[in-house]
Amino acid sequence: MKIYILGISAFYHDSAAALLCDGEVLAAAQEERFSRIKNDPQFPSKSIEFVLKYANISIRDVDYVVYYDKPFVTFERLIASYLSNAPRGFKSFLISFPLWIKKKLFLKKILYKRLLQFDEKFSVKKILFSEHHLSHAAGSFYSSCFDEAIVLTVDAVGEWATTSVAIGNGKSLKIEKEIRFPHSLGLLYSAFTYYLGFKVNEGEYKLMGLAPFGKPIFVDKIKKHLIDIKSDGTFRLNLDYFDFVTGLKMTNKLFDELFGQSVRDGQSDIFEDFHADIAASIQVVTEEVLLLLTRNLAKEYKIKNLCLSGGVALNCVANGKLLDDGSFENIWVQPSPGDSGAAIGCALAAWHIQLDQPRNLKKIETFPSQYLGPKFSNDEVTLFLDAIGSSYSVCADDQLFDLTADALANGKIVGWFQGRMEFGARALGNRSILADPRNPEMQEKLNLKIKFREGFRPFAPVILSEMANEWFEIDRESPYMLFVRIVLKVKRLAVSGQQKELTIQQKLKQLRSKIPAVTHINYSARVQTIQKRMNPKFHSLISSFNQITGCPILVNTSMNVRGEPIVCTPSDAYKLFMSTGLDIIVIENCILYKKDQFPKLPIEFSH
Ligand SMILES: [Fe+2]
Repeated sequence: MKIYILGISAFYHDSAAALLCDGEVLAAAQEERFSRIKNDPQFPSKSIEFVLKYANISIRDVDYVVYYDKPFVTFERLIASYLSNAPRGFKSFLISFPLWIKKKLFLKKILYKRLLQFDEKFSVKKILFSEHHLSHAAGSFYSSCFDEAIVLTVDAVGEWATTSVAIGNGKSLKIEKEIRFPHSLGLLYSAFTYYLGFKVNEGEYKLMGLAPFGKPIFVDKIKKHLIDIKSDGTFRLNLDYFDFVTGLKMTNKLFDELFGQSVRDGQSDIFEDFHADIAASIQVVTEEVLLLLTRNLAKEYKIKNLCLSGGVALNCVANGKLLDDGSFENIWVQPSPGDSGAAIGCALAAWHIQLDQPRNLKKIETFPSQYLGPKFSNDEVTLFLDAIGSSYSVCADDQLFDLTADALANGKIVGWFQGRMEFGARALGNRSILADPRNPEMQEKLNLKIKFREGFRPFAPVILSEMANEWFEIDRESPYMLFVRIVLKVKRLAVSGQQKELTIQQKLKQLRSKIPAVTHINYSARVQTIQKRMNPKFHSLISSFNQITGCPILVNTSMNVRGEPIVCTPSDAYKLFMSTGLDIIVIENCILYKKDQFPKLPIEFSH
């Protein structure tokens, strides 16, 4: 008899569902992909529907449903934070309290009610809860190929923990120590995200992208006034400058006064050197904390493997620094380390810890697939394309690779929609927008005409795994774009002009390498290495591009526009194709050229 476990992450941000069958992840998806609401926090009904349908089972066949957090403990934190700060924060308490009472405190009842909608005989006894940081840690450790590892989880906050250290050994995983709310590295980074006018829980990537344009001139100020970092990397925040505990904002007036400017207006597109300097400074402080923590953990436990999880593990610049630091021989970052990935983590925790099931250790070169979402057959795609009257042709695989590679080499921007949708924040070649990285205009064109987002944001390269070290300083696989690497000197171009006197916009226009569209101002790149085994079609396409151009690299950015989730269905993809500057879209074996489409056909598919 197979054992099915359904993991659920919901009600905070980026809800998701994951289905395990005998400990293996069969399917997983974020609710935003179906609801089309970015980071949708609602109960993931549609994701659950999908994972059950994928496994061809009903909720009745599911043995356990695991929620990724313990709501009673979180509530205790809320009350305790209020009491220790009273009467400050009464306003936020008044807002939070009824919401908690109504929604989260009685979560078991709510979950039960929602699951009854799938099956009126669903048993409440099947519902389990996993601690938040244990869910994160389990997601990382149990998906790694390490028998033994230190697991460092760093996020905004779980129930109480904001940073935790667990030791994984075989099937056992135990949290050894933690730093507790309100002292949180994730919240500190988010406070700066807020200060720079970006949306918290979404804009942290933008802050990281802006950082290389600045100088870290505020590091001392941050360390003197905002965060007290001990020599072992543990830290305490000075809450005088933050409002996240008691108020409804991340930072306060004192914070503004400290840096001499008020919170940046997110609507304004102007970034001054000041903003870049702020971004550079908090990035350096974050890296310093993570480096101190990991160096000390390596010394203390003498374990050579490190697993990372929690939202802060999405900081691929910091991850790259940890790799270079060499305190650990191996570093594994859960490919979806944020809260959505905790849906996989809590299910894995239930399987190995609560059900005491052994691990099936993978080989070191075996990377778990992130292609865990829905897929669409050629028949389904052509049915859809015929129904809307689009113009397309169907090609065999080889012809498809040649035509697409040729178009890319000629400067076209291509939507590439294949197989199962990716789980997590990154598109890894199945819901991707692709372009020629050698083209000097491509970064600006992609940012402004396709993604409708800030011009400074860098794009990531995908490179044939077997040629990665000919272009980047890289000595291992990076299949999920979670590590920043440096472009090799031989591929760089000399940059002229006094850098100090240039604006961010001027610096952006300078060509720094033979692949300018994916080379950041400091020669860094968020590399994805692609092995044939992991995605044969994507690998073949890049190989064809390499044959034509001698460049085994493409720009790979997710198929979405600013503020929208990555596309899920052929219909989502077609809408995006028709409302952006994409030249071509390939959906399974169908190739569509923009010039052949009737622009207003049908009306709901044009913007
Ligand atoms: Fe978290």
